[in-house]
Amino acid sequence: MAQFALPTGLLGRVAGLVMARRPSNQRRNAWTLQLLAIQPHERVLELGFGPGWAIARAAMLATRGKIVGVDPSEVMRTQALRRNRTAVHRGQVELRKGTVGDLAGAAPFHKAYAVNLFMFWPEPVSVLREVAALLVPGGVVALTVQPRQVNATDADTGVAAQRMAAALGAAGFRDIRTEVLALRPVGAACCLGTRP
Ligand SMILES: C[S@@+](CC[C@H](N)C(=O)[O-])C[C@H]1O[C@@H](n2cnc3c(N)ncnc32)[C@H](O)[C@@H]1O
Repeated sequence: MAQFALPTGLLGRVAGLVMARRPSNQRRNAWTLQLLAIQPHERVLELGFGPGWAIARAAMLATRGKIVGVDPSEVMRTQALRRNRTAVHRGQVELRKGTVGDLAGAAPFHKAYAVNLFMFWPEPVSVLREVAALLVPGGVVALTVQPRQVNATDADTGVAAQRMAAALGAAGFRDIRTEVLALRPVGAACCLGTRP
């Protein structure tokens, strides 16, 4: 589990390969981007890009926009840079080592998302307040979680959804809604909120 929270070394590289190739990972990431309805001109932020699979998909959607990602894992940054080499080279994609706090002062984003990261934030409300400060008014954030612990059930997905919705509300987001995707071994929940 630690290697999915913050991949390092050889085991971290293996975790990255698993995340990039596992069909349920790909589906929950593609679904999150679909829910965000990313437009060609938009600036998009991904927190915790891991191996960069969703960054590549987002770059296919925001064709005239920009995708910025932050992740504190150097191992993940290396994999994501490799996966998005061409888009990074042309300046459409920027991948930074760090967390949302390292983006203070960045140009504002239209959309932001984090997939299977929420449960690793010790203080999700303060992270989400920082995300809100980086969004344009009317900008949307999507948080997706598919519980991965041993013996996880769809009830865990429901609990995660409640926690994400509560944190979004406490951070000042409005129009909060939850979507659920049936997946194996358990469903994924995505909570979306709009910056007023
Ligand atoms: C379980 S992986 C998910 C990766 C990818 N989003 C996916 O769905 O395949 C969690 C990722 O978040 C990164 N991470 C951990 N703490 C973070 C933080 N505070 N801010 C941004 N990313 C973080 C980890 O390094 C890791 O790459």
